[in-house]
Amino acid sequence: MKIVIPGGTGQVGTILTRALTAAGHDIVVLTRRPVRDREIRWDGETLGSWAEEIDGSDIVINLAGRSVSCRYTPANLQAMMDSRVHSTEVVGQAITAAARPPRLWLQMSTATVYAHRFDAPNDEATGVLGGTEPGVPGYWAYSVEIAKAWERAQERAETPRTRKVAMRSAMVMSPDRGGVFDVLLRLARLGLGGPVAGGAQYVSWIHDRDFVRAVEFLADRDDLVGPVNLAAPAPLTQRAFMRALRAAWGVPVGLPATKWMAEIGAFALRSDTELLLKSRRVVPGRLLEAGFAFDHDRWPGAAEDLVRRRRGGPEYTR
Ligand SMILES: NC(=O)c1ccc[n+]([C@@H]2O[C@H](COP(=O)([O-])OP(=O)(O)OC[C@H]3O[C@@H](n4cnc5c(N)ncnc54)[C@H](OP(=O)(O)O)[C@@H]3O)[C@@H](O)[C@H]2O)c1
Repeated sequence: MKIVIPGGTGQVGTILTRALTAAGHDIVVLTRRPVRDREIRWDGETLGSWAEEIDGSDIVINLAGRSVSCRYTPANLQAMMDSRVHSTEVVGQAITAAARPPRLWLQMSTATVYAHRFDAPNDEATGVLGGTEPGVPGYWAYSVEIAKAWERAQERAETPRTRKVAMRSAMVMSPDRGGVFDVLLRLARLGLGGPVAGGAQYVSWIHDRDFVRAVEFLADRDDLVGPVNLAAPAPLTQRAFMRALRAAWGVPVGLPATKWMAEIGAFALRSDTELLLKSRRVVPGRLLEAGFAFDHDRWPGAAEDLVRRRRGGPEYTR
């Protein structure tokens, strides 16, 4: 199949391109800075000759968006919003205009769309969307707004011959350098992998191979439309998550961190405390209902697999 991946040069794009190329598909990546073979220039905002790649393709997987690995300043938040909404709109325009539109448009979204909560997990049917939780920083609501606007941009696109799925993905854990697993592992190895601000907040995650398998599953299942959670079925507390990561690598202790230490940790992550403090308790209701079986459904085993691949694999150094 021909699969076009706008924004496919980043962490998730690397995982998908590697796996889908190995499976024999023709992958074309849309990027603002093409360097490699099969990379095509676009600007993420305006229609151009890049749209010819979408015309006649089988699947589009749009991953484009300003990285969330940054401090959440007003300017960065605006760029996070605009890059996601504009790129989704223009991908929709390209599909609408295509003479032979793809049969499927997988649009990246995020598990962050759900509320910060501890009491119950969020699936697609009964989950609570975020934005109105009491006692959390105001900009957390803006992150939820970004996610909602991102999904709305896809919903609004008129693509009658193309099935649309919004992938509400949890953190994708892969052994690649620079990915979120790499950064968390580095913190753990520095002895900083203890509970943050009590560690009761939930971490939702998905193993990279299950992420790829879920994408393939969504491609095969014509009955699945709309938002789908891509997260392992067993989210766990941040305290337990980091404990398992330390055990997998063999780090004996992890210093606990208070909220202000989380500021320093977030700075080290080139990110924001929201990523460490927000409780993301997200479960894959629709995938499980549709019969998807996770190869890595529990974090301790997944962490061991990732550590093993990381220790053994020069291919994960970009
Ligand atoms: N990684 C995760 O665990 C995870 C989990 C849930 C959701 N997501 C979302 O999934 C998407 C992909 O994640 P990722 O980790 O692969 O992100 P990433 O490494 O930051 O890559 C995103 C890609 O978007 C493109 N991009 C950045 N700013 C852009 C702009 N202003 N206009 C158009 N394109 C722009 C970049 O491509 P070029 O610079 O080559 O143009 C970049 O390679 C992101 O939207 C992210 O928020 C990620």
